[in-house]
Amino acid sequence: METNEMSSCVWITGASSGIGAALAVEMAARGYIIAATARSADALADLAADVPNIHAFPGDVTDRAGMVALVGEIERDLGPINLAVLNAGIYLPTSFPAFDASIFDRSFEVNIGGTVNCLAPLVPAMSARRAGRIAIVSSVAGYGGLPTSAAYGATKAALFNLGESLAMDVAAYGIKVSMIAPGFVKTPATDVNEFPMPFIIEADDAARRIANGLEKGKAHIAFPKRFSFLLRLINLLPRGSYTRLVGMTTKSK
Ligand SMILES: NC(=O)c1ccc[n+]([C@@H]2O[C@H](COP(=O)([O-])OP(=O)(O)OC[C@H]3O[C@@H](n4cnc5c(N)ncnc54)[C@H](OP(=O)(O)O)[C@@H]3O)[C@@H](O)[C@H]2O)c1
Repeated sequence: METNEMSSCVWITGASSGIGAALAVEMAARGYIIAATARSADALADLAADVPNIHAFPGDVTDRAGMVALVGEIERDLGPINLAVLNAGIYLPTSFPAFDASIFDRSFEVNIGGTVNCLAPLVPAMSARRAGRIAIVSSVAGYGGLPTSAAYGATKAALFNLGESLAMDVAAYGIKVSMIAPGFVKTPATDVNEFPMPFIIEADDAARRIANGLEKGKAHIAFPKRFSFLLRLINLLPRGSYTRLVGMTTKSK
């Protein structure tokens, strides 16, 4: 295990359900002290009541000043954040020909803006200590365009670029960055999907894979391996061939 950076406090956003809640439980079981954030204070309180190493720090990632205050509060109560898993996110599918611009606004606000709001207090705090790892939860949907994913996929592609650029800039200050790219995971977010979801896995399985990758200090944690490899492979095709192939195989019009 690569570890000073992971030896004590781990901040997980989006920890009230799905992947974030499962990761909080998994990492608490591995001995880390978890600061769990989401808007649903009751769900976080239940989680904290069930699992001794989990502490509830409710908050809305779209509130920039709120995230600055929250990071201060977590570090006062639990010590320096050695690992932050910026996982809070929403999945709002697009449908056409009606064009609902608010789906784009809200997706950008939570998935990109929310991540930036968490980075704002984290980067100066970690660079002052010259230590820490920031993990950003993107998605295999960020590798290339997919049907119904014009808003969601765009945010996840932006997170890849943001995270990879950030990694290059903050390495000199002792901060490491990991990008996390899950395939389909069974959570409340994917329960709305009516299409078949290939290679779908359970949230606790996803949590184990993420925790293993983080403990190994991996820069890119993508799973399930076969699905992520397949998507990365077809993304090497000329773009016209890529969109035709994905359009045909997903039967989009
Ligand atoms: N499930 C998948 O197949 C899949 C695949 C690839 C990537 N991902 C990514 O994995 C992450 C977790 O998704 P999930 O599938 O576990 O979905 P989920 O069960 O819906 O969990 C989303 C989490 O984000 C929190 N959240 C949403 N808006 C927030 C806000 N404004 N402030 C703070 N927290 C907020 C939610 O809590 P509250 O509502 O209580 O705030 C919840 O804890 C997301 O970034 C998602 O894009 C999921």
